[in-house]
Amino acid sequence: MNEKLTQIKTQFTQQISQVSDLAVLEQLEIKYLGRKAGELTNVLRGLKDLSEAERREIGGQANELKKEIEQKINEVRQSLKGQAVGNEFLDITLPGVQTAEGHLHLMTQAISEIAEIFERIGFVRRRYPEVEWDWYAFEALNMPPNHPARDEWETFFIDKTPVGPKGQRILTPHTSSGQVREMERKKLPIRMINISTCYRRQIDASHAPMFHQFEGLLIDKDISIADLKGTLDYFAKQFFGPDRQARIRPFHFQFTEPSFEVDVTCGVCKGAGCKLCKSGWVEIGGAGMVHPNVLKAGGLDPKKYSGFAFGWGVERCYLMKAGLSIPDIRMLYQNDLRFLKQF
Ligand code: FA5
Repeated sequence: MNEKLTQIKTQFTQQISQVSDLAVLEQLEIKYLGRKAGELTNVLRGLKDLSEAERREIGGQANELKKEIEQKINEVRQSLKGQAVGNEFLDITLPGVQTAEGHLHLMTQAISEIAEIFERIGFVRRRYPEVEWDWYAFEALNMPPNHPARDEWETFFIDKTPVGPKGQRILTPHTSSGQVREMERKKLPIRMINISTCYRRQIDASHAPMFHQFEGLLIDKDISIADLKGTLDYFAKQFFGPDRQARIRPFHFQFTEPSFEVDVTCGVCKGAGCKLCKSGWVEIGGAGMVHPNVLKAGGLDPKKYSGFAFGWGVERCYLMKAGLSIPDIRMLYQNDLRFLKQF
């Protein structure tokens, strides 16, 4: 090693072995590594005046020594800090440090609330796959390949072409894919509330690419629209409260006949019209009587059994709930604590 560096090393080793407090250690650090006039810093600074060969050799050694000195200083610092804590007076009467307390995300809260409302009238909570077969999401729901109705569920595909008898894998665009899966369990009567994550290629103030739906399915003998209407009224009263109105519009879904769309008055503008709803009403989802072809796809005899289904957006429903004015659905998933802490 270069003579100057050897001298620095010997001197440092001797001095650091005598350091007994943090202030002296700091002085020593400045003496050797100080940016302005540290002994080692000076050597490094002088490298530029040397020949290239010397620069390479001495530069390498000086950097090596710098690392050794830094490491040693850190070791001694840690050990001196440990001693300082050991000698510190511990005042056990001081108030403790408050641990930050989190809470469930508001969608998780909404899902629990919705599940509970339906469990009270005998529905059983279910969850079906998020990565789903085309068969369950479309074909078994009376939408054969290339049917134009599929376009409404702007779908994310996992496979480009079918990979088996159940077609392509997709990210499920609705919880209706759980209908035929539930029928296949062959446990009748069915009273399912399937709450799950859904995905669609949509994004704006009222659409998120990842969202949640809850799907009710009731199948038994002699089920009529009156049973569906009664269930919708029950949920609207329980979830939204008495000052909100709901309406049912005739609609078309391939998998229900007749089909309806269910709207409630917007929670932000209370029906006047705003950026979120435009018309004063916000659609919360669809409903209808299960189509005989869907019962057949699930292995049930449509002459014997009938039923109703509904599928609504959890986010949409929660935003419509009394007292909440959230102007953009995407705020739910931006993970901004200033927003999330309010709920
Ligand atoms: C359906 O998905 C049908 N499966 C509903 C259904 C079930 C009808 C059973 C009949 C019987 P629709 O595409 O309208 O329908 O979606 C239902 C609800 O999901 C919407 O009203 C909305 O509340 C919510 N939703 C749909 N797409 C999004 C999205 N991108 N972001 C947030 N919520 C969404």
